[in-house]
Amino acid sequence: MPVSMELIDPFEVKGCNNRFAAKLRGVDLSLSIDIPTFDRIHQLWMKHPVLVFPDQTITDIQQIAFAKHFGDLEVHPSLAHRADDYPEIYRVSNVDKADRIMEPESSDWQYLELTWLWHTDSSFRPVPSMASILHGIEIPPVGGDTLFADLTAAYEALPSHDRALVQKLRVVHDHEAILAKSKGLTERDDKGVYEHLPPVTHPLVRRHPITGRRSLFLSPHTMDKVEGMQASEGRELLNGLIAHASEDRFVYRHIWKANDVLMWDNRCTMHAVMPYDSINHRRVMHRTTIVGEGPPTD
Ligand code: SIN
Repeated sequence: MPVSMELIDPFEVKGCNNRFAAKLRGVDLSLSIDIPTFDRIHQLWMKHPVLVFPDQTITDIQQIAFAKHFGDLEVHPSLAHRADDYPEIYRVSNVDKADRIMEPESSDWQYLELTWLWHTDSSFRPVPSMASILHGIEIPPVGGDTLFADLTAAYEALPSHDRALVQKLRVVHDHEAILAKSKGLTERDDKGVYEHLPPVTHPLVRRHPITGRRSLFLSPHTMDKVEGMQASEGRELLNGLIAHASEDRFVYRHIWKANDVLMWDNRCTMHAVMPYDSINHRRVMHRTTIVGEGPPTD
């Protein structure tokens, strides 16, 4: 069956040109895909950085096999959120490995709750991730939508003198900064078990290796400081850029249905989960994360 594409309802997409997110039909991710199908998906993905594949009943193994077409897979630094059988699966779920809803006071939930902040996956690594693929397995009845911001459109909409300024800057990103953003985690000794990752610096503007387009590189939950700037001045600049990039006009809001699979390009987007009743409702999502092709450059 040929791959067909449908632009998502313009009322759901407030982005500049209504091309940011697209829905693909005609692909069954439970089957292995051939080279022409892969090429078609890749070509569409380069035009639409958020792809939605509805109605995909897939296993973790099938998700991993699909993701591996795009590159090697990351293993997440948080031990509690890795699937035991398949470490390449990051369990973005409020349900623990024993299938119980996590206690709100637990470090595992408090770490996961930080996905409610805007971020770009793996911005704390020297080579941040290229893409993430997320399988929505159990969806809460209300809330838990995912917001995606178009960081290319946000960059291009800046006045030219601001573009020239931000293009020269580099930002320190730190996995520890994520932990510091949670009041609960800050106050407790047991913060969870994570692989240690030293801070890294990345440019504030990056050029997409395939499309050649520039975008802001924002990942508010790991951005610690701007190199060469006073802490308060750097923070003010970053906060202004985050507020700009998360304006409604740059954001697509995905309202999940069970068995949606989403694939997004971390090289030109950031995302955040909308709050939901995590005490009474299960949200079970499995993510595979594809290693980037190299450090971001402008
Ligand atoms: C993530 O931050 O990668 C997960 C997004 C989501 O759970 O919707």
